[in-house]
Order: sequence, then C-alpha cells, then structure tokens
Amino acid sequence: MKNKLVTTNDGSHSIFNPEINETYHSKHGAIVEAEHVFIKNGLLAENKSQFNILEVGFGTGLNALLTAQKAKQKNITINYHGIELYPVPKESYIELNFTDLIGEDKSELLKLHECSWEKGNKINDFFKLTKNKISLENYKSDTQFDIIYFDAFSPEKQPHLWNEEVFQNMYNLLKKDGFLVTYCAKGVVKRTMKAVGFEIVVLDGPPGKRQMTRANKFTFEK
Ligand SMILES: C[S@@+](CC[C@H](N)C(=O)[O-])C[C@H]1O[C@@H](n2cnc3c(N)ncnc32)[C@H](O)[C@@H]1O
Repeated sequence: MKNKLVTTNDGSHSIFNPEINETYHSKHGAIVEAEHVFIKNGLLAENKSQFNILEVGFGTGLNALLTAQKAKQKNITINYHGIELYPVPKESYIELNFTDLIGEDKSELLKLHECSWEKGNKINDFFKLTKNKISLENYKSDTQFDIIYFDAFSPEKQPHLWNEEVFQNMYNLLKKDGFLVTYCAKGVVKRTMKAVGFEIVVLDGPPGKRQMTRANKFTFEK
C-alpha cells in the first residue's frame, strides 16, 4: 500500500503510512507540533550559537526545514544529522506545502531531500546536513550531539525503536549536557529512559496532547 498525503488541522501536510496505520505528524497540526516539540522545547530551549542535532526519523524533512529557518533567523550554526530507513519519495516530497506556510522558497525543502546521503552537505552558511539511510537500531556516530529530536513512529507501532538498547545508544551519543526531546510521554517510555540514566522532565504537549518529554543526560541544578 502506498503512503498518502494528508492535511492536518493547521493546514500543513503530513504523510499517512497505511502499512502501520499511522501519520507522520499529529492530526492537530504538523507544523504546530514540530514547532512546539522540537523548536520551542528543543533548539530554542538552550542558548548556544552552535548545535549538533540528531533527528531520528528524517521523514518529510519538516523538523530540519524549521530548524534551518530558525538557524538563519537567529545566526545559529547547526550541524544536523538525520536517520531515515525509508526516505520519502520525490513524488511525495514535491507535494508538501510546508515552505508556503512558513514563508520560505520551495527550493529550501528540495535541497534537504535532494542532497546526498551518507555525507555532510552544506545547505547554507548556517546549516550542514548529513543524512544516513540506516535503521536506528544500527546507528553509530563519532559525533556527540547537543540535542536529539526523537521522532520515531509511536511505541505502540514500533516498540523495538523505544527500548532500553536504543535509549542507551541515544544517551551515549549525547554530550554531557545534552538532551533528547520527543512528542511521546508514555509511562513505559519514560521509565525506559530513566533506566539508562536520563533525568525526565515532563512538559506541556502540543495542541491535542497533554504532555511531551525532555530527557536530560545530566540532572540540572534545581
Ligand atoms: C513519525 S515519522 C516522523 C518523520 C519526520 N520527523 C517528519 O517530520 O516527517 C517516523 C519516521 O521514522 C522512519 N523510520 C521507521 N522505521 C525506522 C527505523 N527503523 N530507523 C530509522 N527510521 C525509521 C519512518 O520512515 C518515518 O519517516
């Protein structure tokens, strides 16, 4: 069965995957969700001028696009790595309406999709992108990350991507003051993260979701 383009409640597109019966983003708004979980509570939660960011599940490129836009606006330099096992095909990504809605040229999204895999690509002066076509379970990197955008399909649909081994790997890939953010706030996921050493912070979720999670590598002073 083929993936299908859908429109979410803020007017932005998402993709529906019929095989696992799940949409890439919240039906309440793809852009609104990404802005809340990954930009506001991820990128903008730390006051740094340079970030190494890892995204789990590059998908439509929405999180990378919004991060690149913010980087340009705020003079932040980003070294962005994205893992994706099933890249979105051209027939789908050319249809996505994200750039129209955020006031960017369509070419900004196309650059993210059409640059090479398995190598670093300079997208602009502020944004370097490395895409790896690999399963999260096999991912290794010499880079240490400031932030991980953990945007896998839900633990109900892909429990093997939310287990202790995966989160141990995520923990090890973070810098000592690094953190992971995810839309998911399920109890079992928070307990698994805690078991590998993360400090869990529960934050207000995006529209339609009560909560989301930030997992800190080291406990911050209270
Ligand atoms: C919830 S979607 C999010 C996509 C993306 N962040 C976006 O904004 O479009 C999850 C993504 O994880 C990818 N994925 C599924 N299994 C994977 C695996 N084992 N390793 C890496 N990525 C995987 C899917 O293809 C999909 O693109």
